[in-house]
Amino acid sequence: MRLEILQGDITTRDVDAIVNAANSSLMGGGGVDGAIHRAAGRELLDACRELRRTSLPDGLPVGQAAATPGFKLPARWVIHTVGPNRHAGQNDPELLASCFRESLKVAGSLGARSVAFPAISAGIYGWDAREVAAIALDAVSRFDVESSSGLELVEFVLFSAETTDVFRSVFGA
Ligand code: AR6
Repeated sequence: MRLEILQGDITTRDVDAIVNAANSSLMGGGGVDGAIHRAAGRELLDACRELRRTSLPDGLPVGQAAATPGFKLPARWVIHTVGPNRHAGQNDPELLASCFRESLKVAGSLGARSVAFPAISAGIYGWDAREVAAIALDAVSRFDVESSSGLELVEFVLFSAETTDVFRSVFGA
């Protein structure tokens, strides 16, 4: 599995699946969640509503992941995950590691070969980007060793130059 770090807008990535840093309601929000909903179109919200109605009546728990189609996005799927919110006292690194792991599991089960992640929890949810990068690297490396998912490429798509530099330094890339 190849790991790549790039700066840009994750909604433009032509990969099989992009990961959304959502909230438990799955009803959209600010940050990357808002950008993904805007770019995917109204059908994404309808698909999220359907997920809530069927399998997730109480919402998506922190650390879990669930997929919808990507609709107008280049990516075929959106994998929604909910990072821990530091401002709400959620500071357990395992919860954040779980977001990366569970998203990769969902990607593997969809048959995705390429997946792009944002810096989950590093925005509105208040985590330090360096900590997010270290947790992401560890979780993805472990997944690679332990699974035979068919995933060939994992991208980290960072919005700012600063966060991109942090990820590059943590990943040694
Ligand atoms: N492409 C890539 N990264 C982006 C983009 C983009 N288009 N837009 C923002 N980022 P955040 P969180 C970066 O706040 O901290 C929402 O309201 C951003 O600069 O999007 O997990 C949800 O509904 C930051 O580095 O997610 C939740 O309520 C990273 O993505 C809450 O925010 C994550 O920032 C989730 O907060």
